[in-house]
Amino acid sequence: MADSSAPDGYFDAASTEPPHPAARAALLEALDAGWADPARLYGRARSTRMLLDRARARVAGVLGARPDEVSFTSSGTQAVHLAVLGGLQARRRAGRHLVVSAVEHSSVLHAAELHEADGGEVTAVGVDRAGRVDPAAFAAALRPDTALACLQSANHEVGTVQPVAEVAEACRAAGVPLFVDAAQSLGRVDVPGGWSLLAGSAHKWGGPAGVGVLAVRKGTRWRSPLPADEREARRVPGFENVPAVVAAAAALEAFRADMRDEAPRLAALVDRIRERVPAAVPDVEVVGDPARRLPHIVTFSCLYVEGEALLTELDRAGFAVSSGSSCTADTLRPSHVLEAMGVITHGNVRVSLPRGVASADVDRFLTVLPGTVARLRRSALNALDP
Ligand SMILES: Cc1ncc(COP(=O)(O)O)c(C=O)c1O
Repeated sequence: MADSSAPDGYFDAASTEPPHPAARAALLEALDAGWADPARLYGRARSTRMLLDRARARVAGVLGARPDEVSFTSSGTQAVHLAVLGGLQARRRAGRHLVVSAVEHSSVLHAAELHEADGGEVTAVGVDRAGRVDPAAFAAALRPDTALACLQSANHEVGTVQPVAEVAEACRAAGVPLFVDAAQSLGRVDVPGGWSLLAGSAHKWGGPAGVGVLAVRKGTRWRSPLPADEREARRVPGFENVPAVVAAAAALEAFRADMRDEAPRLAALVDRIRERVPAAVPDVEVVGDPARRLPHIVTFSCLYVEGEALLTELDRAGFAVSSGSSCTADTLRPSHVLEAMGVITHGNVRVSLPRGVASADVDRFLTVLPGTVARLRRSALNALDP
């Protein structure tokens, strides 16, 4: 591995992975070598274009795609929006029906809401208690007027891996293009190849923020929902951030190489958390598929504790974790993922381990957690019965 250190107590890699050393080195080099306009014809522009094209080929190699199928966007969210809205736009004649899983990332669901507000129809396919879509139920939701289907490669809140290959086969049989949001998987686990459209996000694999990937398979109908622009094969408007794209490509290759040894190590640390948390903390539910899951994510919900209070206390103890439930004063909405799974939505904590996390750091977390939960429960009881 390039560098084994991860920031102490940083357990929020599913939100963003700390920068990979390969990204930093490539970024600094490309800031000097790749600032010219890649669309121009003079030498400096051509060498910037070469950097961009080489980065595209490297990313395409990891995706199992052709370089001309890959475009760079300004975020994972933008890649998702373009994939969904562009996929729908191009198949307007087939119909205006969109199929999504109920546990997609908000970027997919927000694009679906826009489609609905514009007169389109959306079917959300439910999941089981582990957060997994049933391929037969997904296939049954496809109709003759279905323009596009969307299934994430793996869930961002609970880590459950979805049956992409089976769903892709059902979509192929029905003649419906499948969009796969692979933002949580790219670089960590390989994504099955049956997708028509795919999205990724560089800051999830240790690349810089502000770089997303949109891949459109050759032969897939896609039309930009945005005003025309020449850049990125007319798929993404605006001047490319070539240095960031170069850094993203370098990070993806390096991160993926690291994951050969690192993914099993992270998976074993997650197993340790999955086993020890319910043994040490009463009234807790570990959620998500125990086996068909990403290597680095584990989520559990604690009864009789507010998620935000728990995150704040863990932050005080030196741990950065996140929560799927955003029961904040302004939304009061539990996580749509946990709701769709039918599991406890209260006191929810997502631990997502970055590359190089120290095993001793995980043990320290397991030592601190039971006392923290117990203290919060005691103070909640005292508040009820002063
Ligand atoms: C599954 C999934 N899709 C899309 C995104 C959006 O990516 P970005 O943060 O680059 O906008 C995220 C980020 O959390 C994600 O987890």
